[in-house]
Amino acid sequence: MFNKRIKIKALLAEENTGFEATVMGWVRTFRNNQFIALNDGSTNNNLQVVASLGEFEDSTLKRLTTGACIKVTGQVIASLGKGQKVELKAATIEILGDSDAEKFPLQPKKHSLEFLREIAHMRFRTNTFGAIFRIRHSLAFAIHQFFNDKGFVYLHTPIITASDAEGAGEMFRVTTLPLDGSAPKNEDGSINFKDDFFGRSTNLTVSGQLEGELAAMAFSDVYTFGPTFRAENSNTTRHLAEFWMIEPEVAFNDLEDNMNLAEAFIRYVIKYAMEQNKEDLEFLAQRLEEEEKQKPQQDRSEMGLLDKLNFVVNNDFERLTYTEAIEILRESNHNKKKKFQYLIEGWGVDLQSEHERYLVEKHFKKPVILTNYPKDIKSFYMRLNEDGKTVAAMDILAPGIGEIVGGSQREERLDKLTARMAEMHIPAEELNWYLDTRRFGSCPHAGFGLGFERLVQFVTGMGNIRDVIPFPRYPKSAEF
Ligand code: 4AD
Ligand code: MG
Repeated sequence: MFNKRIKIKALLAEENTGFEATVMGWVRTFRNNQFIALNDGSTNNNLQVVASLGEFEDSTLKRLTTGACIKVTGQVIASLGKGQKVELKAATIEILGDSDAEKFPLQPKKHSLEFLREIAHMRFRTNTFGAIFRIRHSLAFAIHQFFNDKGFVYLHTPIITASDAEGAGEMFRVTTLPLDGSAPKNEDGSINFKDDFFGRSTNLTVSGQLEGELAAMAFSDVYTFGPTFRAENSNTTRHLAEFWMIEPEVAFNDLEDNMNLAEAFIRYVIKYAMEQNKEDLEFLAQRLEEEEKQKPQQDRSEMGLLDKLNFVVNNDFERLTYTEAIEILRESNHNKKKKFQYLIEGWGVDLQSEHERYLVEKHFKKPVILTNYPKDIKSFYMRLNEDGKTVAAMDILAPGIGEIVGGSQREERLDKLTARMAEMHIPAEELNWYLDTRRFGSCPHAGFGLGFERLVQFVTGMGNIRDVIPFPRYPKSAEF
C-alpha cells in the first residue's frame, strides 16, 4: 500500500525507538548532504531525517531541495540532536514532487508578511502561517464544541439575501442581469429587477442575525457560523470584505445574560486553543516578542502573547455603559491634550477605534464591554431602554483589536420595533417575515456577532487581519 505513513506530530511524540516508519512531507532544509528537515503540517516541528553518507545516489540527493515533497521509510532512532527525542534513519527515499530550488519562492530565511501575502498560495508552508492556520482550525472546532455542549442548534443562514440586516447599506449585489447597459429598466430609468434571477434585487449577506432570530423563536438557542460580506471601502488592519462571523441568538436572554454568554464563550475558545496549540502559540509568542523589540519603548505592549491570553482567560471583562465611557474619555488627559484625532466633546457621538483602544489599552488594560449606546448610532433591532434615548446594545473591545463583538438584546415589542423602523426609513413590507416573530409568540431575546478573524488575530497576536484568513478579500484584491 502506498500510504501507511505516520504523521510527524505522532512520530515526534514517540517514546520508543527501533521500529520502522514511513513519513511523507515537504523538505524545509537539507544540510550537509545528510540532514533533511521534514514537515507535513501536523506540527510546527520538523522531523530530522538522516540520509547517511554514501547510502543514496547523487541523483536522489540533488532532488532533496527546499519545497520538494518526499516519502521516506526508515528506522526510528534516538536523536542526539537538540530539542528532539527521535529521528528517522532513511532506508528509502522517494521523491513525490520535485521543487526547483532556483524558482521556489520560499527560501529558508525570514520573509516579510507583506511578501508572503503576495504568495498566499505558498505561505501555508511557513512556520508562522502553519501555526496561525492550525490555531484558526482549533478555534473553529472549539466554537462548535462550546455551543454543542450547551444544546444550541447550528443554523445555516442564507448567503444570498434580499434584506440588509444591519441597515448599513454596504452590500455586494448578486445579479445575473447583463452589465452592458441592456438590463431592463423601469420608467424612471432604474433597473427593473423583475427579470433578474430571483425576480428582485439581492445581495450577499452582511449578517445571519435576522434569520437566526426566526429560529431562536423555535429552538430557543441557536448559532450561525458562516461567511459574511461587507463592501466597505476600509483599508485597515481589522477589516475584510469577506469574513466569518459567529452569531448566537438566544430566546429568554436579556442583555446581562448575553454578556455572560459572550464572556464565557470567548474564554472557552481561547482556553481550548491554549491547550491544543501550545507549541504553535509559543512559536507565535516568540515571533511577536522579536517584532516588539523593533518598536520604540512606548509602543511596546506590556504583556507577551501568552500572558495576555492567560489574563483574558482568568479575569472578568470590565463592564460599563457608553455614558460612563464618554465621561472617562472626555476627562482623559489624552482628550484634554488633543491627542485624539476626533475629540470627545459630548454625549451621542460614535466611538472611533482610537477611543476604543484608549479605554482598553490605556485606561482599563483589559477587555471591556460597553453597553447602552445612544439609539441613533445603533441598528434598528436593538431594544429601546426605559430612558427612550439608549438601546440595550453591547460591544466587546479587546486589546490590540478594538471591537471584537457587537450584540444586543432585541426589540421584542412589535409597536416599538415598527416605530423605530419607520424612524429609520426601513420598509416594514420587506421585513414582514421578521415582524411575524413579534406578532406570534414574541419573547425577550438577545444575541451577538463575533468576528472570527478578529478573534484569530487576538489569539495569534497578528497585527493584520489579512494574515489570519487563508485568502483575504479586501479593496482591489481578490487573488487566488
Ligand atoms: O457589529 P456588527 O456589524 O454586528 C452585526 O452584524 C450583528 N448583526 C451581530 C449580531 O448581533 N448578531 O459585526 C459583528 C462583528 C464585529 O464586532 C467585528 O468583530 C466583526 O463582526 N466585523 C468584521 N470583521 C472583519 N471585517 C469586517 N469588515 C467586519 N465588520 C464587522
Ligand atoms: Mg459593530
